[in-house]
Amino acid sequence: MGFNRRRFLWLAGLGLGGLGIAHAWPKANSSSQNLISKTSRISKAPKGMPVPPIRGDVRIIVISDLNSQYGSTNYEVEVDRAIEMIPDWEGDLVLCGGDMVAAQKTSLSDSNVKDMWQGFDHHIAAPLRRSKIPLGFTIGNHDASGTRLGDKVLFARDRDLASQYWQTHYPGLAFIDRGGFPFYYTFGQNDVFYLVWDASCDKIPAEQLAWAEQSLSSLEAKKAKLRLVIGHLPLYGITKGRDNPGNYLANADQLQALLERCDVHTYISGHDHAYFPAKHGKLELLYTGALGAGPRKLIEGSLAPYKTLTVVDVDLSNKSTVYTTYNMTHLTLVDINTLPRQINSPTRTILRRDIPSV
Ligand SMILES: [Fe+2]
Ligand SMILES: [Fe+2]
Repeated sequence: MGFNRRRFLWLAGLGLGGLGIAHAWPKANSSSQNLISKTSRISKAPKGMPVPPIRGDVRIIVISDLNSQYGSTNYEVEVDRAIEMIPDWEGDLVLCGGDMVAAQKTSLSDSNVKDMWQGFDHHIAAPLRRSKIPLGFTIGNHDASGTRLGDKVLFARDRDLASQYWQTHYPGLAFIDRGGFPFYYTFGQNDVFYLVWDASCDKIPAEQLAWAEQSLSSLEAKKAKLRLVIGHLPLYGITKGRDNPGNYLANADQLQALLERCDVHTYISGHDHAYFPAKHGKLELLYTGALGAGPRKLIEGSLAPYKTLTVVDVDLSNKSTVYTTYNMTHLTLVDINTLPRQINSPTRTILRRDIPSV
């Protein structure tokens, strides 16, 4: 096993003390500090926000689809506002569902793409680093699409530059396996095991799926109280314009079975640009709304598109999660009852997660 395939074991949360940790700065997330902070921290709401969420054992701030137009080095006001507010939620982790920059256009020059990653760093990653909040993320089609034409990776330049950026900007994660970073990797924090796969296009390679199953069946994954998987494309398309093949994962039945077999609690995705807390079979699905440009309409109901951020509070003993989702334009809470009870996606019907399965 070469250096790049070396597995990094983390200390926090899983009781695997005595082994090395990949990087050291997420000190605020060590088990003991979290234990202290959990009992002493009273949940606050950022200024201008409604009532604070009820704090769980672990708090994850979920954002997605941040980019503006092609080539942009700036972000819409909701993104900058969210990044400014995030420290006030006192989360343990920020998770991003991808589409952090707006590449996937061959007419952009290398320096345009590099400038976009610098813009991302300036607006998003650097403020989180300064606040010592780890940033887990998955690569989106606009960051570095894995689409192939035969043997050719169509956006190889985007993939090289995304990789260059992430290899030189440590996101504060306690990696377990960073062999495929930044495209696919695992990390752990506070008894939660996270697996990120490369769903930047609709086909995840078979060898990566074998890696995912092996990782999710590992001792570290099994010892964790909860397993979460993050990828950009969803299993099932739920918004207008994202409900055609290519915009959701091609082999969803196989992936759903894999995630259920490995006792994954939730699959978190971006790309659809609309918030929908769902479930299908034994798996929960968190469709993260867009925070940046282009929120979309669900294929059911008549809700106007809106931009969101979701605070996920995890109860480790019950293996359950509570979502507090904000409309980031109007700074209001999203009422789950305004969302459709189910969505008939082109491939499967998925239920809103609070609706009992029959
Ligand atoms: Fe997007
Ligand atoms: Fe996308």
